[in-house]
Amino acid sequence: MAKNYKETLRFPDNFLWGVSTSAYQTEGGIVCDWSGWEKSLERIKGIKKQGLDPEDFICDKACDSYHRYKEDLDLVKDLNCGVYRMGVEWARIEPQPEVFSEKEIEHYRQVLKEAKKRNLKVVLTLWHWTNPVWVQEMGGWANKKVVEYFLVYAKRISQELGDLVDFWVVLNEPMVHVFNGYIIGKFPPNKFCPFQAYKTFRNLVQAQRKVYDLGLKSPVGITALINYFEPAREWCFLERSLASLMHYFWNHKFLKKIKNHIDFIGVDYYFHDRIVWYPPFRKNLNEKVTDMGWEIYPEGIYYVLKYLGKFKKPIYIMENGIADAQDKYRADFIKDHLYYAHKAIEEGVDVRGYFYWSLLDNFEWAAGWDPKFGLYKVNRKTFQRKARPSAKIYSKICQSNSVEI
Ligand code: BGC
Repeated sequence: MAKNYKETLRFPDNFLWGVSTSAYQTEGGIVCDWSGWEKSLERIKGIKKQGLDPEDFICDKACDSYHRYKEDLDLVKDLNCGVYRMGVEWARIEPQPEVFSEKEIEHYRQVLKEAKKRNLKVVLTLWHWTNPVWVQEMGGWANKKVVEYFLVYAKRISQELGDLVDFWVVLNEPMVHVFNGYIIGKFPPNKFCPFQAYKTFRNLVQAQRKVYDLGLKSPVGITALINYFEPAREWCFLERSLASLMHYFWNHKFLKKIKNHIDFIGVDYYFHDRIVWYPPFRKNLNEKVTDMGWEIYPEGIYYVLKYLGKFKKPIYIMENGIADAQDKYRADFIKDHLYYAHKAIEEGVDVRGYFYWSLLDNFEWAAGWDPKFGLYKVNRKTFQRKARPSAKIYSKICQSNSVEI
């Protein structure tokens, strides 16, 4: 993007500025399928084999947000955000099938009340990949009974917390669970089983539909990880076809099935995939990459938003962020993505909000503690939070409802 000029891009009135987190990655002390896997001998052996320290791959106390939520909410306010996306943890709330913990529900009520005291809107995620151990023992989402259990959980939470929730995200990135859990085995349940992957996909679709049909008071949506798939060479039929196929299976199929069961689309944008016809089928130019080696490609968000515009639903960018421990790229990363989001808005796409991922450095799933996505650093021993320089820049963007490019 051209950088030799200065321009102020204003966002529509009532545009929502926010930050996102999830329960498992920040709260600490959660016992679920993930915590079990992290501590399994097999996992620990695999990590040691790579010469790494297993401690760096165990979530454990996370960011201790379970106890420090007031401080976290203050940080959200310091950023001048009007909305906070957080999660509730199914395993905490329903430790046994249909046995709910009043204490934990009350805990989340307190968190939400504190958010309201600070005049924050709340997006509440019901499921962000982790499952109670009893769900795992039933065979996880590959078992269709889980849909009914999830419905009971969702109903209970909506009754208990619904008055304090502004937007519901029923499922976070279901395709990631299907693919990482049942195809490449990188996430629990760590399998390669296309048949179970198919059943899991189908059951997650059902879960979204059925929760939507509960008729909750606030808007109900989903977050989808939408990648920008592009053929490396437009003239190459094979590359064009492969890119379309990948777009169809990864981005489109799930959304198509639930499009009548969402009030809005929450989009998470991280990836550009430049598709070639030969293995491994992806060859990005990687001129600039994040600490995780992910290509930085802001333009992709424009194409993703243009595609989503076709669903004719309000769109919220509910995750967009960068692992960048030195904070070298983060401010520009945010601005450049906003530049392209603004371009899509100007062309008529109904984008109503932007949420940076993430408020804090947190537990980055299979990659453990190394990646630093936070606007705030978190000291892993003292849990002290400290703003990175980019936090100031983001807070200015949020306050002014505009970005200077
Ligand atoms: C997930 C987050 C994750 C982030 C960065 C998203 O796909 O929802 O939980 O931390 O990506 O990898």
